[in-house]
Amino acid sequence: MGTNQNNLSSKEANPLANLDEWEDDLLRRYPEPDSIATAKTTEEYRNYDEPARDTVKEFYRINHTYQTYEFVKGKRDNYLKFDKKEMPIWDAFQFLNQLVDDSDPDTDLDQFQHLLQTSEAIRRDGHPDWMVLVGLMHDMGKVLCLFDEPQWAVVGDTFPVGCAFSDKIVYPEFFKNNPDYSNPEYQTQYGIYKKGCGLRNVTMSWGHDEYVYQMLKDYIPEGGLYMLRYHSFYSWHREGQYEYLLDDKDREMLKWVQLFNPYDLYSKNPVPPDWNQLKPYYEDLVAKYLPATLKF
Ligand SMILES: [Fe+2]
Ligand SMILES: [Fe+2]
Repeated sequence: MGTNQNNLSSKEANPLANLDEWEDDLLRRYPEPDSIATAKTTEEYRNYDEPARDTVKEFYRINHTYQTYEFVKGKRDNYLKFDKKEMPIWDAFQFLNQLVDDSDPDTDLDQFQHLLQTSEAIRRDGHPDWMVLVGLMHDMGKVLCLFDEPQWAVVGDTFPVGCAFSDKIVYPEFFKNNPDYSNPEYQTQYGIYKKGCGLRNVTMSWGHDEYVYQMLKDYIPEGGLYMLRYHSFYSWHREGQYEYLLDDKDREMLKWVQLFNPYDLYSKNPVPPDWNQLKPYYEDLVAKYLPATLKF
């Protein structure tokens, strides 16, 4: 499948000025506030002027239109072979950082800074070291953009495909444009799944979560794998939807996904961590859990 299978121009396929616009919009939907809050209050992170919100809405319109079960299958077949690239892990962060976008008015922090701020906030609160590692790695899947995937196939809330869409997913009205919406097999409550089958048997919309989970699934404890795999599944971990697909393992692991989410959303800080000082710690941490190179 080519990236232009939907006949969208690159501009049409990428309405966000940068990937952070999606995460900034999450802060508007889930404004928070608690102990890990940093130098800015939640509302101050960004002025949500209408144009920015319109680009987010347009982003969800195409995301909900084109994320079909077939589409996801094609992406899984392509990317989960991990035959595109192999590089030392620290080179992978530099690769990811090519996503830096100067048009972001909020901050000149890059992708690596978001990862490091997330991991540092987790570390400050004394959580297990593998969770710190998850903080550092959780958005590595955004390299999909560097393989020319459109924004709507990399970021955005994720959701199950092959069964009815929850109306608690952001902008649910746009699912009417999704071909799966007219497929009766996919539009019953369970769709192609069985009641209580467990999320591991459910195909999620395609994006950076599933990709990084598959990349790291042999190296990180189970709670961390749930954080990686479902951190954008807001209709589950924030809205409590899809109970009928869960098994006992999912119910047990939800607490880890929920523990992680505030660090992802609310750890952004304009003061960058001092990387030179932190480097030895992170080099040891990465060496403890991960192989020398990562496959993409
Ligand atoms: Fe993410
Ligand atoms: Fe993130």
